[in-house]
Amino acid sequence: MTANNIHPEFDKIKDRKSKEIYLKQRAKVIWFTGLSGSGKTTLASALEKRLFELNYFCQILDGDNVRSGINKNLKFTEEDRLENIRRIAEVSKLFMNCGIILICAFISPTNEIREMAREIIGDDDYLEIFVNTPLSVCENRDPKGLYKKARAGEIKNFTGISSPFEAPDHPFIEVDNSNPNIDETVTTLLKAIIPEIKFDPLKEL
Ligand code: ADX
Repeated sequence: MTANNIHPEFDKIKDRKSKEIYLKQRAKVIWFTGLSGSGKTTLASALEKRLFELNYFCQILDGDNVRSGINKNLKFTEEDRLENIRRIAEVSKLFMNCGIILICAFISPTNEIREMAREIIGDDDYLEIFVNTPLSVCENRDPKGLYKKARAGEIKNFTGISSPFEAPDHPFIEVDNSNPNIDETVTTLLKAIIPEIKFDPLKEL
């Protein structure tokens, strides 16, 4: 028997539905995009904590972790960034098929890269959050000392310095994390996200 005779979608759709019912939630991918140091990971963690307290079951995927594991062979060329996000989007889809809510935090710097993620994940399931913290603020924070190194030419292709960042045109939500009151920002996010992930048993009848 060849791969042509296998029809995996049908099983997956059924699996996802029954797992969403089991977990009493709708699986989605909450996709944070923004510069390095913009606050993506901090917001993603705070959001996960609040969702967990509300009984939502999530998984975080973020740049530094994924790049030290599954994507450790990738660098920061345009081509490698595309491959980085392609794999993450595919992995996110696998988690979604288990009924899990994904919280992804990746620079994902260009429209092309984000559109690929949206296409792989599916438009209905992809919730884009633009962490619009100005470059000057990210550079001032410089929590990992990377902007300093990039300015000194010690890091090539650094986003915002020597590699482009294109602001998304129509994000699901946009937040400015310059002067972070994290709790307030997460509350704003929750208000927009909960209607998307809320389980409605009547819809399952
Ligand atoms: S992405 O562009 O491919 O989406 P990703 O989010 O996975 O990037 O990784 C970004 C993290 O890698 C940054 O937060 C930073 O810590 C680190 N990093 C190392 N080199 C670079 C670089 N040249 N450009 C951007 N981030 C870099």
